[in-house]
Amino acid sequence: MSDREVMQWDAGKAHVLDAPEREREMPAATVLELLSLEGSETVVDYGAGTGRLALAIAERVAPQGRVIAVEDSSDMFELLSERLADVACAEPMLIEGDDVPLPNRTANRILAVDVLHHIRPATLAEMRRLLAPDALLLMIDWERGHSREDGPPDGVLLTPSQAIRELAAAGLEAQLVESPFAHRYVLLARAEKCGWEQA
Ligand SMILES: C[S@@+](CC[C@H](N)C(=O)[O-])C[C@H]1O[C@@H](n2cnc3c(N)ncnc32)[C@H](O)[C@@H]1O
Repeated sequence: MSDREVMQWDAGKAHVLDAPEREREMPAATVLELLSLEGSETVVDYGAGTGRLALAIAERVAPQGRVIAVEDSSDMFELLSERLADVACAEPMLIEGDDVPLPNRTANRILAVDVLHHIRPATLAEMRRLLAPDALLLMIDWERGHSREDGPPDGVLLTPSQAIRELAAAGLEAQLVESPFAHRYVLLARAEKCGWEQA
């Protein structure tokens, strides 16, 4: 069990998530490429924020797939619901604690962008529960050493090795892949025992 410091998300910073420089630093199209979507997947965007990425995913997987945009903050959920209101194949979902009201192995993809430093190991266990056997978890988070005014401080950030260890403890086998983003690392994970061969 990790006793690291976890940063509480401040919904007052929601505007930062949709700032133009964020799309420049981490284009939604590039995140979608990393998800390797075919178009019929059920994607869980865990900690979806204002829904920038959930919206792009919905556009990619409609009409056969769907995106479930999970939030534990009621303020963020309000913004998310507004953004996804008329979007086919997108479902905003407000959760309590780490209980996502979906059956085991629902997700073909789980996306968690800039979320790891906000969550505890129990949340990773919930992601593991949701992940289908041949499914992929994409986790993107800040590297240490690039703290900015609007970004998280180094003290709450995990190194890729620490992240891989936490994921392993939750039953997720993660690999560090080459990051297309400046100052962020990228992990791809599968449920343990499934191996890395493509389904
Ligand atoms: C830095 S924002 C990133 C939002 C979005 N992933 C993006 O990249 O635009 C982190 C989000 O995760 C949400 N969050 C934090 N802990 C969570 C948890 N345990 N369950 C669900 N959402 C959580 C916060 O409310 C916040 O909206």
